[in-house]
Amino acid sequence: MRLILLGPPGAGKGTQAVVLSNNFKIPHISTGDILREAVKKGSKLGLKAKLYMDKGELVPDEVVVAIVVNRLKEEDTKNGFILDGFPRTEVQARKLDESLYKSGINIDMVVYFETSDEVSIARLSGRRVCKECGANYHVKNMPPKKDGFCDKCGGALYQRDDDKEATIKNRLAIYKSQTASLVDYYKRKNLLQTLSGDLDVDEVFAELQTIFSKKKFS
Ligand code: AP5
Repeated sequence: MRLILLGPPGAGKGTQAVVLSNNFKIPHISTGDILREAVKKGSKLGLKAKLYMDKGELVPDEVVVAIVVNRLKEEDTKNGFILDGFPRTEVQARKLDESLYKSGINIDMVVYFETSDEVSIARLSGRRVCKECGANYHVKNMPPKKDGFCDKCGGALYQRDDDKEATIKNRLAIYKSQTASLVDYYKRKNLLQTLSGDLDVDEVFAELQTIFSKKKFS
């Protein structure tokens, strides 16, 4: 299964990608996670990416495309992958198409998480992330068992710098101006499936199961 999860910040793409990746035993490739890891390491890429991420802006296309094209050459993607947060511009989508075409493979499906601004804002402003393993929580919707600490590894939870209100609003504006047109891009390619990202986590997962049950994957 070669899947793209598309939708605004806070739509729940990452949350579902983790579950799907475990169920289908295919890698979850999140450009946001890869970039945050580079920032954490203080690498040249990380230092460059941080300048954009802190403001909620997109990291330049050529940087992100190179990351994904290289990642998709790795052995673990042979049986499929889940792209989360990529592509985010039409340039990225076209470059991905070119790269997959050269490798003789296709995207099977793009799932669009249609989500209201109110829900995105409420989710992102309440999100907490584990410093150690990157697991996501939400202060109200998905609270950890012990306040401030990860259920999985006991690491401390923190709020992402770009989950502050002003930056969230900028991320949503950038989504609308630079990413939202990908819905039509993939509709034209007959790859798009839409679900409501406003639903609860379990309801979204059930919707995904229904969508997948109607499709034969390569
Ligand atoms: P990235 O990390 O990709 O951020 P994003 O797309 O803004 O996505 P989020 O992680 O914020 O949202 P999500 O939909 O995954 O929601 P999640 O499941 O976490 O990118 C960060 C930055 O990196 C970008 O701003 C940019 O600078 C750069 N970047 C990344 N990719 C790039 C690219 N391709 N090109 C250029 N730049 C790029 O859930 C959010 C919260 O809601 C969590 O707390 C969760 O617990 C909760 N939640 C999830 N689902 C539900 C539900 N159904 N009901 C209730 N609560 C829920």
